[in-house]
Amino acid sequence: MNLRLKNITKHFGKQKVLNSLSLEVKSGEFHVILGPSGEGKSTLLFIIAGLIKPDKGEVWIKGKNITHLPPQKRNIGFVFQDFALFPHLTVFENVAYGLRAKGLSSKEVKRQVNFYLEMVGLEKHSHKYPHQLSGGQKQRVALARALVVKPELLLLDEPLSHIDAWQKEKLRDELKQIQKDTGVTTIYVTHDQLEAKVLADRISVLHQGKIEQVEPPEELFYQPKTDFVARFVGAGNILQGSIIQLNGKKATFLLKDSNTKLVVKYYPLFKEKKEVQLCLHPERIFLNKRPVKENHLLGKVIKVKKTSSGYRIKVSVEGLIFEAHAFKNSFSEGEMVWVCFDAKALHPLCGRCFREPPEFRRCRLERL
Ligand SMILES: Nc1ncnc2c1ncn2[C@@H]1O[C@H](COP(=O)(O)OP(=O)(O)OP(=O)(O)O)[C@@H](O)[C@H]1O
Ligand SMILES: [Mg+2]
Repeated sequence: MNLRLKNITKHFGKQKVLNSLSLEVKSGEFHVILGPSGEGKSTLLFIIAGLIKPDKGEVWIKGKNITHLPPQKRNIGFVFQDFALFPHLTVFENVAYGLRAKGLSSKEVKRQVNFYLEMVGLEKHSHKYPHQLSGGQKQRVALARALVVKPELLLLDEPLSHIDAWQKEKLRDELKQIQKDTGVTTIYVTHDQLEAKVLADRISVLHQGKIEQVEPPEELFYQPKTDFVARFVGAGNILQGSIIQLNGKKATFLLKDSNTKLVVKYYPLFKEKKEVQLCLHPERIFLNKRPVKENHLLGKVIKVKKTSSGYRIKVSVEGLIFEAHAFKNSFSEGEMVWVCFDAKALHPLCGRCFREPPEFRRCRLERL
């Protein structure tokens, strides 16, 4: 089922948490909402579920305005940030709760609960109470409890946040598989970028009460559209300057307060003398002892840091810091190095996509 949020605004006291937020989630989609802590992700899920009323705006499901429909009539499954299992009920009874509330026969309840407990790998733990379970097992109970009532929409609020790294990976894969098998439209909230990358069909980034960018993971991580998204996804090489010449499929960009010129792939929003911000993803920089590629700038290595996936190397070029990612590193701090990249490695930050200005749309088409 598809979901549409139209201009949702929510205040807590004087604090505006959601600011005329609009979003569309497609039927069957695994949609991740990504954003820093305290940005209103949980609030948004509570509004979708009907547990919090928005001050303004509408929630539409399957083409119907359900803004004023009570939560129990929405057919939505919710896995809360803290699981919220009933402590005095066994695993079996926690999962059975929603079915019993619907008045199903004992035989049918047993059949369905066992089916979902097996799906999440907990059939041998059905007699236990929540305090006898690990964090990962509690997460699975919460998931089975949400799925057993066959929701049309599944809301998951950071369900893996209390789970250790090893179990997290396993549960993430299982979750993705269960979502695929059931086909349930899913909204998954997290501030973990890796989780978002692995799970999502599309990701929405929440910032200052609005959605800044909605795109599939590859585009969002490699083609961020705003300064905030670029920095948030670790693509923080943002170059200020202006377009000084258009040459067919390419353009010339002049770095601000510098004589350095760069070759950039042409985007329709470029105009001569227009100031633009260009983003250069760290993975698209190639550090080399000799100048290669269309763009090459000589700089000094100022920091080399080991990361989980390789190295982050900071290079200072005329006082401007470039961050490069490399799987292997052969440079040491203080060494001179060429920062090399193709014209197509640069793309303009063309603004929040919820506004969808014509320039943005053309920019999006152009880069495909
Ligand atoms: N019931 C409430 N009363 C007052 N303020 C609230 C209430 N619920 C949330 N807030 C505030 O609204 C803001 C957004 O909270 P929310 O829980 O939606 O953030 P979040 O993005 O889910 O954060 P996290 O990633 O830490 O879970 C926070 O500043 C929070 O303090
Ligand atoms: Mg939250």
